[in-house]
Amino acid sequence: MCGIFGYLGHQQALPILVEGLRRLEYRGYDSTGVAVEHDGRIETHKTVGKVADLKAILPPTVEGTLGIAHTRWATHGGVTQVNTHPHASENDRVHLVHNGIIENFQQLRKGLAARGIACISETDSEVIAQMIALELEKAATPLEAVQSTLRRLRGTWGLCILLKDHDMLICARNGSPLIIGQGDGETFVSSDPHPLTAHTQRVVYLEDGDVAVIHRDSFSITSMKGHSVEPSITVLEDAWGEAELGDAPHYMYKEIYEQPDALRQCISGRVDRDMGTGRLGGMGLDHSALVQAPHVRLLGCGTAAYAAEIGQMLIEKMGRIPAVAHISSEFRNNDTVINPKAIYLAVSQSGETADTISAVKEIKLKGGQVFGVVNVVGSTIARLCGQGVYIHSGPEQSVASTKAFTNMVAALTIFATQLGRTRHLSKDDGRELIAQLQQAPHLMETYFEDVGPIAEAVDLLCGANSVLFLGRGLSATVAKEGALKLMELAYIPCLAYPAGEMKHGPIALLEEGSPVVVIAPNDHLKEKTMSALHEVKARGAKVILIHEKGDAIASEGDVSIAVPAIHPWLTPLLTVVPLQLMAYETALRLGRDVDRPRNLAKSVTVE
Ligand code: M6R
Repeated sequence: MCGIFGYLGHQQALPILVEGLRRLEYRGYDSTGVAVEHDGRIETHKTVGKVADLKAILPPTVEGTLGIAHTRWATHGGVTQVNTHPHASENDRVHLVHNGIIENFQQLRKGLAARGIACISETDSEVIAQMIALELEKAATPLEAVQSTLRRLRGTWGLCILLKDHDMLICARNGSPLIIGQGDGETFVSSDPHPLTAHTQRVVYLEDGDVAVIHRDSFSITSMKGHSVEPSITVLEDAWGEAELGDAPHYMYKEIYEQPDALRQCISGRVDRDMGTGRLGGMGLDHSALVQAPHVRLLGCGTAAYAAEIGQMLIEKMGRIPAVAHISSEFRNNDTVINPKAIYLAVSQSGETADTISAVKEIKLKGGQVFGVVNVVGSTIARLCGQGVYIHSGPEQSVASTKAFTNMVAALTIFATQLGRTRHLSKDDGRELIAQLQQAPHLMETYFEDVGPIAEAVDLLCGANSVLFLGRGLSATVAKEGALKLMELAYIPCLAYPAGEMKHGPIALLEEGSPVVVIAPNDHLKEKTMSALHEVKARGAKVILIHEKGDAIASEGDVSIAVPAIHPWLTPLLTVVPLQLMAYETALRLGRDVDRPRNLAKSVTVE
């Protein structure tokens, strides 16, 4: 979480830093700050709130061509002005911004106190600034001071450090991404690649343990122990898709409606309609690996975990081999048995989710091969896996994930088809599936022409104390995704259950007028789902029913929303869309900040 931007060059730093922060704001938005150096003086401005709040307190000009900036998602210490980055050492010689968590900071803080240095903030980050300042007094160079400080830290960091009277930035990475962008006589630092694309396409991704000394037109990288590291320059590809808001009222709205195009982008060139199979070249999986894999395991968090769950079901349906989806944060700590012959898929939009990264490292350590199913090109998970499939959603800025979900599902569907065709999936069945997958973007567009009575559904949801989401099979997972969306955006407690499980407990919650969202596409489980619908109606609940267009069950819902018919295995691609719209519209109606829901951030880069 948190965003870092740094600049050293020939232009005024402040506007570049503020624009960098604006593009990073989705990573955290509790508080934000900048520090700019000019003639040996470092001027800092910070505030609780968003980048717009920072802009409002900035003086018209702040001279200086060297600076650092940060947008925070609080981990240690409340959301206060004093806890906002940049943090400075007591003697004002070191200013820094930090992403990550320093686990031994209490102990280090005590050590500083014993030397008469009192930290003014509650953060773990300030400790680093104070320690570097002390090291500077004895080290031969600023780099050495930083290196010796880092060797005493335990935890994770992405650091960008500004030192008084030194025309340089020092950056370090350990578990928190940091990227250097090399321009013409100017160098940029960012925790995300996409703000860099406005300035340069030549970037270097720092690796864990790297420390970089940055000058205006050059930089060098060493390890924490001082060994020199050869930088590997990556040329950022032009990001597909428009990262700016344009005319859309919110990023979430824009991204929901981008789904048909995003889906086309994901599918295009990756399916063989004649052979009825997928063609995921980046996976680098040969035929025999697919045939011999004993099982598949999928990992993810939040929405990515739900996409993984759908992938699990599709792999079992088509490949007829066992598949299990795991929540990464559980997987990483459960000492799970790893079979090196199995296929492991790490699913993540950002490619920076700390729990998924740890799970990937654990699998690799035990000899397993992990394939990334990732959106952000060059992200940590993509690079760590070194193989996999980019889902090609284009930039997703809204904290609530939408187009990444449908593209993850599509990518996993293609993978399942490829796996299935090496085993039991017939050519005809494969062809039918691929043909319908190719139709999915168009069917989404058809749905957008008439989204149904979303406003009536919102009437029911707005006043609810809690909402129950029900579905079976693939739709049980769609129910979870719908519940997550409504909960994170509207702050309404939501519960998602497989419809058959409802009578084993959650039914106790229902009372007259309780809204229940039932997802009942026209698949082999529909009749059973309808039994649950009747049971909730018998208790006075109000049903919001998501069903296939033209299906007679429409009359059973208090509010019924129709989606176009599609192959039963592809229904999540369509049934999730009204749930996204319902969450978006409910949040708006309740006056929530749709793109910046409270307490959340887009990339969860801490445990
Ligand atoms: O970047 P990732 O896909 O790894 O992120 C995983 C979750 O943090 C993310 O899906 C989160 O649950 C979203 N806020 C859901 O809308």
